Amino acid sequence: MNIIVTGGAGFIGSNFVRMILDEHKGTYVVNLDSLTYAGNLGNLEGYIDNKNHKFVKGDICDGRLVEKLIDEHKIDAIVNFAAESHVDRSLVDPGVFIDTNVTGTLTLLKAALEKNIGRFLQVSTDEVYGSLGEEGMFTEQTPISPNSPYSASKAAADHLVCAFGHSWGLKYNITRCSNNYGQYQFPEKMIPLMINNALNGKDLPMYGDGLYVRDWLYVYDHCTAIWKVLTETEPGTIYNVGGNNEKTNLAVVNFILDRLGKDTSLIKHVKDRPGHDRRYAIDSTKIMTELKWAPSVNFEEGMSKTIDWYLQNKKWLETIVSGDYQKYYDSMYANR
Ligand code: NAD
Ligand code: TYD
Repeated sequence: MNIIVTGGAGFIGSNFVRMILDEHKGTYVVNLDSLTYAGNLGNLEGYIDNKNHKFVKGDICDGRLVEKLIDEHKIDAIVNFAAESHVDRSLVDPGVFIDTNVTGTLTLLKAALEKNIGRFLQVSTDEVYGSLGEEGMFTEQTPISPNSPYSASKAAADHLVCAFGHSWGLKYNITRCSNNYGQYQFPEKMIPLMINNALNGKDLPMYGDGLYVRDWLYVYDHCTAIWKVLTETEPGTIYNVGGNNEKTNLAVVNFILDRLGKDTSLIKHVKDRPGHDRRYAIDSTKIMTELKWAPSVNFEEGMSKTIDWYLQNKKWLETIVSGDYQKYYDSMYANR
């Protein structure tokens, strides 16, 4: 099988590409990524020159490039990870989220339809469902009700994918996953940001009361779920993917501090995120029963692996946090 993976130099995309090159050797991957601040060829170290991998620097909004790649490499499927992915950035500059997440997805859909691609898999998020109170879980039937510009742009993309299936028979799947953590995650997201700050003895900025709840999934387990949906399902289906690991932000940060042998006095409660979703929890029954998918590690094992990885890859982290990252950090946190 020949596939285009978009956003394959980002956090989850690069983990997905490495998994395929390691475990599914009959698959050829064309990795299309524009290398924004979040994309980094260092995430693919040791894999760039793999004979089953071709990296192409380009934008998913460039329809002619996408069609050319489909023809040139006889592409069977597209897996779309490329996105602007950080809620806080979407609250400052939503426009680019519409460009990439909506117009970019639309461009890929048009190319996939034009070239009669066998499968289009949209990597979506549980955040399209909105926020939960203390009870309940998101199922695939939960109405879409996004709250941030990020989740609104992802929801718009999901609707477009379904509309292409409904109107013209595009063969699609959508996966909606909970919060991921693991190696190569950019330190704007909570877990690597807190690890990086703790390692440097800096304050850990806890939004509001810290009792917001996320359902954490180890990134490799998200990748195995996407692979199963891509290769084992009928088109036209949507699957939730979650870790069944509901944790408050305070519990996650306390785990990190404990593992690093640092004191909880580093935690500093700061001004909350506007419109902050209180709780996400995902019901993964459908993928677990229909596709026999299950996470390979529990939260404690996954987090231990992740923290060890950041400790062993300080060079990667240092490169990422030099330059523009510091400007971003100051603009977000200096007056919080
Ligand atoms: P990321 O920000 O780490 O990576 C995004 C990648 O997309 C980067 O490599 C970037 O260079 C690339 N990109 C951005 N705009 C592009 C464009 N116009 N053309 C080509 N490439 C472009 O994101 P991530 O955390 O790896 O998330 C990947 C996908 O998974 C996203 O669609 C996101 O919505 C979804 N998702 C993420 C999570 C999570 O916890 N991180 C959870 C569920 C779903
Ligand atoms: P994040 O990693 O940005 O993921 P998302 O908003 O997509 O769920 O944030 C996870 C949780 O951590 C969320 O409740 C916001 C909170 N958070 C902080 O308290 N401090 C921070 O510096 C960041 C980045 C997030």
